Amino acid sequence: MKVLFKKIVPMAVVSAFMLGAVSAQAQITKYGKDLTDEERAQISALAPGAPMPKDDEFVHIPPTMEDLEASDLHPKMKEAIRRGHDLFVNTQQLRGKNVFNNMNCASCHMGEGRLPFAGPVWPAAVDLPAYRGKNGHVNNLEERLVGCFTYSMNGNPPAYGSDDMLALTLYHQWLATGVPMFPKDKLYGRGYPRLADPEQKPDAVRGKAAYQANCAVCHGEDGAGKKEGDKVIFPALWGDDSYNWGAGIARVFTLASFTKHNMPLGQPNSLSEQDAWDIAQYVDSQERPQDPRYTGDIKETREKYLETFHKHTMYGLEHEGKILGDHDNVGHKDFLKPDILRSRDFTGGKQAE
Ligand code: HEC
Ligand code: HEC
Repeated sequence: MKVLFKKIVPMAVVSAFMLGAVSAQAQITKYGKDLTDEERAQISALAPGAPMPKDDEFVHIPPTMEDLEASDLHPKMKEAIRRGHDLFVNTQQLRGKNVFNNMNCASCHMGEGRLPFAGPVWPAAVDLPAYRGKNGHVNNLEERLVGCFTYSMNGNPPAYGSDDMLALTLYHQWLATGVPMFPKDKLYGRGYPRLADPEQKPDAVRGKAAYQANCAVCHGEDGAGKKEGDKVIFPALWGDDSYNWGAGIARVFTLASFTKHNMPLGQPNSLSEQDAWDIAQYVDSQERPQDPRYTGDIKETREKYLETFHKHTMYGLEHEGKILGDHDNVGHKDFLKPDILRSRDFTGGKQAE
């Protein structure tokens, strides 16, 4: 059965995802305790094997593109939201301008950014502006997207206020339709919820074997994924076509959770948690483009961002006799850090004095 799946099912599963089979779903916006049996069934079909909502968790399954077309929004609004959706699922159209690897936003935010446990993106639209430890200041929604462009897409983000940025942020906000601003409740399936600590310390040797058995068929033995012409079929897990060392998913705990809840494609929650941790440890022990925050010195950079980030990555640590991240390779782009990254100051100018 397993062999059969690997040989035949992958393309069917992939096209089901790409054709938006997951989007034939009704919007749900309520507390866990108020869900009907039908809604519970819908949620377990969207996230097979994932924990069901607790009574006091806030559940939001966003509207679909079909809902958009059926809605009475102004045609110009529909046009802009459609554009945001198109940029989100086919971000490769910005390749060479804003994106320098093989990722689409939907490569990690699966099911058009709508699925619980697969990094649903609507929470950012209701939770921001907020303080972010990663850059140490208050961020708005645009700046959150700038983060994923800079690290996850190894890119150069579209300008603040540009048409593409507006379309993308509008898509996020429209997905959040019906959710109150600044919710205080726990949001069901937000991000990639952290797994319990593994019984055994994550191990790259065990991880390599599990990777080869469960992942290599699509992502390749060398982690480079698969392209057909310009079309990315399977995104890269490491190397120049993948996310860089500063990306959120470069943290072993994030990659372990993503893997457990979403991979292998079409078989979420089929791996053991230990396998997910081991595979994450193995993938994070491979090379990828430089962290855009690199100071020119690997030890210094690891140290500088240790507490807020790199204590969760292999960056700057030794693997098979080499220090990971000790290089000037920025992948397919020709700059290290996008100009758009800057700090913010809300002291009314007093900080500068
Ligand atoms: C390589 C994987 C990857 C890609 C590609 C990616 N992201 Fe992300 N994104 C993440 C991770 C990891 C997080 C943090 C999730 C967490 O905190 O658990 C995140 C978080 C976010 C959030 C915040 C969600 C929240 O709960 O507040 C938004 C919004 C977002 N990404 C948008 C985008 C957009 C837009 C793109 C495309 C331009 C994109 N991402 C591409 C991995 C990715
Ligand atoms: C059947 C093919 C298939 C298998 C097997 C598979 N993946 Fe994926 N994976 C995909 C596709 C396709 C995407 C992009 C998701 C999308 O576009 O909906 C993806 C996305 C990803 C991503 C986020 C994007 C990136 O490139 O970093 C990670 C991480 C990932 N897979 C890890 C794994 C791991 C680990 C395994 C093994 C446990 C695995 N995958 C098995 C097809 C597969």
